[in-house]
Amino acid sequence: MRKSVYNNEKSSVTNVATPHPYDAVYRRSIDDPEAFWREAAEALTWTRPFDRVLYTSKAPLYRWFPGGGFNICYNALDRHVASGRGKQTAIIYDSPVTESMLWISYADLLERVSHFAGALANLGVTKGDRVVIYMPMVPEALVAMLACARIGAVHSVVFGGFASNELATRIDDAAPVVIVSASCGIEGKKILPYKPLLDAAIDMATAKPRHCIILQRSQAEATMVPGRDLTWDEALVGAEPAPCADTLATDPLYILYTSGTTGAPKGVVRDHGGYAVALHWSFANIFNMAPGEVMFTASDVGWVVGHSYIVYAPLLRGSVTVLYEGKAVGTPDAGAFWRVAEQHRVATMFTAPTAFRAIRREDGDGEYIAHFDLENLRALFLAGERCDPPTLLWAQEKLKIPVVDNWWQTETGWPIAGNSLRHGALPIKPGSAARPAPGWDVRVLDADGVPPPVGEIGNLVIKLPMPPGSLATFWQADDRYIKSCLSQFDGYYATSDAGYIDEDGYIFVMTRTDDVINVAAHRLSTGGLEEAVAGHPAVAECAVVGVEDAIKGQVPLCLITLRAGTDRKTHAAIEQDIAQRIRDQIGAIAAPKRVLVVDRLPKTRSGKILRQSIRSLADGTPVRMPATIEDPAVLDEIGALLKAAGFGQA
Ligand code: COA
Ligand code: AMP
Repeated sequence: MRKSVYNNEKSSVTNVATPHPYDAVYRRSIDDPEAFWREAAEALTWTRPFDRVLYTSKAPLYRWFPGGGFNICYNALDRHVASGRGKQTAIIYDSPVTESMLWISYADLLERVSHFAGALANLGVTKGDRVVIYMPMVPEALVAMLACARIGAVHSVVFGGFASNELATRIDDAAPVVIVSASCGIEGKKILPYKPLLDAAIDMATAKPRHCIILQRSQAEATMVPGRDLTWDEALVGAEPAPCADTLATDPLYILYTSGTTGAPKGVVRDHGGYAVALHWSFANIFNMAPGEVMFTASDVGWVVGHSYIVYAPLLRGSVTVLYEGKAVGTPDAGAFWRVAEQHRVATMFTAPTAFRAIRREDGDGEYIAHFDLENLRALFLAGERCDPPTLLWAQEKLKIPVVDNWWQTETGWPIAGNSLRHGALPIKPGSAARPAPGWDVRVLDADGVPPPVGEIGNLVIKLPMPPGSLATFWQADDRYIKSCLSQFDGYYATSDAGYIDEDGYIFVMTRTDDVINVAAHRLSTGGLEEAVAGHPAVAECAVVGVEDAIKGQVPLCLITLRAGTDRKTHAAIEQDIAQRIRDQIGAIAAPKRVLVVDRLPKTRSGKILRQSIRSLADGTPVRMPATIEDPAVLDEIGALLKAAGFGQA
């Protein structure tokens, strides 16, 4: 029998009963944030008390717990071993793609991390140095992250699905002393050698690492560069276990690059102390997870969800984290998640709606779900993209547990809105990520900074200061952070999401307001894609938009015009070339649904390409004809071409 902590009949509730136990918690976090977070901080171990809870003198940049001595690795590992939890499992590595499984205890993990930290120190990595980690979903990725944290180095994990060009951009911005990587990743049945991509990226980058540490996996052997590269095992030879560095709560823990409007990614910086306090609190309260319980976050360590809820939050809480190297479907089938959930007695799962859409496509009747014993599974969290109501309702109906849509971003580090399960689930309204989580004062503002009437769509903004765990700044780019996120609405962080808040305070996130698209919960910049396309010698102009896709949410569509004199017969070859170019420069995750040569692009009289109109034509939704359009006939031409290519059949 399933544990019923949630009443499914409430899934379409429109009137939300108040007061709810959650209300008082939320109110306190907003009315007296310093008391709220001071109390949350007490659950963790500090080597020195903080001077104050919140530092405001450099507003709009805020810092939490200044002066506090705090190391996140100590709190994630040493603290638990010291309190007798050493023998408990910390990580369950479950890898259907290599047919292997490994249980790593807290004591074992501490030993691995301390030794690898010693290896990094032997290579000259010191406090404040950057280490880029470009790894598949293997335990060594977590070991490398925690080892950096241990010695106060700043890690920057780059998602393994990014190609050399993207990796090179990140290497140049972070300027790492060492890069940690692996010989290959494994995607389903494909073995993807990482080392050639890494070598090409280092060739492209101006900032050269002193050393690379490469985990040689048995599926592919990497060729090493003498003098620069060491294998993982070689790096460990003679390495002494390193103690935790005397880091401050405000010291940088990591840089995580994310897509913005342009091709230059933004390096989100997060600190040791505030991040740990927020994650520990959110894991205990929003996720309602206790020490020793098993969390299965099916994401990737290269994304923020992976940083927060595969690695740091479960370990900070003394829980067990499942590190899953596989897919939702195909490794071997649509029952993979449920096999993991049953086998490891998973209490809570977290993934992206796109994974559920893929599962539902193959197992609409939920036969796999019914086949497994999911007695322990209490809740499913979905984030990374808008959760469409049919997916949420399907998951809820088949699993009979709360399905929590939670809204957040790389910048925020943990859910801005969701359902705080420890305080009793709020009724779920499909399409909404429920109410703001404690600490987040979310508002809707129109373009002039005025709140529109309740229920009307506008810019979703967060009143400053944001709670601990939110970004400190962009790496070495305070100005860029202030300009792109804190200047549009005075006193608020602009999320670049648009949506509305209803009469019950529920947040509905509807769309991005910038040129970011969301492909299978991977955040991509159309500006970045356009830069890659425009570099092709035959391309005169291009427009990349995100069009609807039943599984991935959105996928890129590229329209290009060609330089004068380009042979019409070569159009198909150029289209293929460009699709390949995107795979090579950005990565296969950004592969376009279609590249189409067109005679001209729709523009305003001032020359601005009408991307929204292209998107509407491709999605088959009503096209808003801008008054300033240069030539309305272009839209008919493009519409006809897209129709012939199978688009616009909404
Ligand atoms: N390393 C290298 N390549 C990768 C990769 C990685 N880590 N991840 C994806 N790719 C490649 C895939 O091999 C594929 O290449 P191909 O086109 O040559 O076959 C391409 O990128 C697209 O992969 P993906 O987006 O995963 O699509 P898919 O069709 O293989 O799988 C889903 C579809 C929905 C199952 C899958 O996208 C998914 O599970 N998404 C969830 C993502 C997620 O968890 N995001 C984090 C948010 S919380
Ligand atoms: P990322 O920084 O990659 O996590 O992407 C963050 C973006 O994904 C947000 O700004 C939203 O556009 C989108 N997003 C994430 N979670 C949700 C959600 N629950 N509902 C709607 N959009 C979401």
